[in-house]
Amino acid sequence: MTLPSALLLPKSAYTSQSWFEREQATIFENNWQFAGFTEDLPAPGDFLTVQAGRTSIMIIHGPDGELRAFHNMCRHRGTRLLRTCGKAGKAITCPYHDWSYDFKGNLIAVPQQKKNLPGWIKAN
Ligand code: FES
Repeated sequence: MTLPSALLLPKSAYTSQSWFEREQATIFENNWQFAGFTEDLPAPGDFLTVQAGRTSIMIIHGPDGELRAFHNMCRHRGTRLLRTCGKAGKAITCPYHDWSYDFKGNLIAVPQQKKNLPGWIKAN
């Protein structure tokens, strides 16, 4: 059995950058996405990361029992904070310049801030 060509995607659907971007924006970044099961994060500090279109998302189990999702990106220079899944210690520390965040997404430490380097922004 052959499908009518009107039902098939054009070849460009598999190679076109603009097709990819439209697909990401309209399907994967604009709709509900399955991230995992609550059983995957049973204890405080447990985390997983998922991709929602072109955006990496982290989900972490807080010390208060709440599961929270954040953009998986450091607010300093945009470095990805967490990879795959696992258990965070007492905070999430960026691998680039060691800025640290608590499990509610608050910036809690900027080690280089004490050096008073130009271009560094102060933590709130
Ligand atoms: S990019 Fe994260 S601390 Fe600089």
